[in-house]
Amino acid sequence: MFARSALRSSLASSSRLFSTSTPRQTKVAVLGAGGGIGQPLSLLLKTDPLVSSLSLYDIRGAPGVAADVSHVDTPSEVKGYAADQLDQALDGVQVVVIPAGVPRKPGMTRDDLFNTNASIVRDLASAVGRVAPTAHILVISNPVNSTVPIVASTLSKLGAFDPNRVFGVTTLDVVRASRFLSLVTGSTPAECDVPVIGGHSGATIVPLLSQTNLGKSLVGSGETYGQLVHRIQFGGDEVVKAKDGAGSATLSMAYAGAKFANALLRGLNGEKDVVTPTFVKSPLYESQGVDFFSSLVELGPKGVEKIHPVGPLAPEEEKLLEACLPELKKNIEKGKAFVA
Ligand code: NAI
Repeated sequence: MFARSALRSSLASSSRLFSTSTPRQTKVAVLGAGGGIGQPLSLLLKTDPLVSSLSLYDIRGAPGVAADVSHVDTPSEVKGYAADQLDQALDGVQVVVIPAGVPRKPGMTRDDLFNTNASIVRDLASAVGRVAPTAHILVISNPVNSTVPIVASTLSKLGAFDPNRVFGVTTLDVVRASRFLSLVTGSTPAECDVPVIGGHSGATIVPLLSQTNLGKSLVGSGETYGQLVHRIQFGGDEVVKAKDGAGSATLSMAYAGAKFANALLRGLNGEKDVVTPTFVKSPLYESQGVDFFSSLVELGPKGVEKIHPVGPLAPEEEKLLEACLPELKKNIEKGKAFVA
């Protein structure tokens, strides 16, 4: 059994974007800072008291974003870097957030982005491995199920892979699950923390409503449960459709990215019981060929402190997990094969 009390205390604070502990100096880089996610994410990170310095990089537009964000009245330093300044942007950074790459258009799956984003992520990871080999890397670029193995394999080739320091950001699924459950139950999102496990696309997203006080009675309730699970798994499609060709989730993703970055920074600062789902190198389903998996992870001074098992599942959730694992395995293998 995982430490439920730790989960509660960590997730209980999750309705606030940032919580603080005694700050140390933390330099954070955003690679892809000029994009739809990168810009609001940079703004939110500027307001995080645990960030002392922000390094904003993109192949276009980052110096302008940096000049703009740098006027916000918080103490952190902000610098922007142009296309040919990636190494300078990474100099001395402890945390690197990667939202670089193309987003979906209507009708596309996240896997359809593979051809373009795989090489972008590989090249950025390679630069991090060379210039900032001890940095923690937060991967937002899709398909996360493949881009995280790409980062891991790229770093492995350089002898710089530490599984405690590479994270796929699945926080938007957690944020959506909380919001959507609150709408169904007429409560507040703060009362609706939902562990979401598996991966970050469609059927690989597995919400564990049976482990929540307000959601457990819905499990097996037929239509309401089925619709809620579908909305959590395919919530991203609602945004892609509404934006009608202009991209996918950017603002809610920036919020989720900033929230996860803050959780990691709190862990790095020594705060206890920081527990949140994230997609990491994981032993949980390794015997089935799935060696990256999102489950509740305790974050600490070295990054991943402890990977919690998934805990008891309802029969409906066992079925969701059965559908998740083979697809996730394929996505992971595709990422590894790209680097090999
Ligand atoms: P966008 O197109 O608005 O921005 C992407 C930025 O990346 C652009 O500014 C572009 O110049 C930059 N870029 C491209 N190649 C680069 C390189 N080699 N180095 C540095 N920067 C580079 O796209 P958006 O909407 O910001 O999405 C970014 C990624 O995030 C997409 O892959 C999208 O699918 C993913 N995403 C992930 C989510 C998650 O939950 N993990 C949720 C939503 C989107």
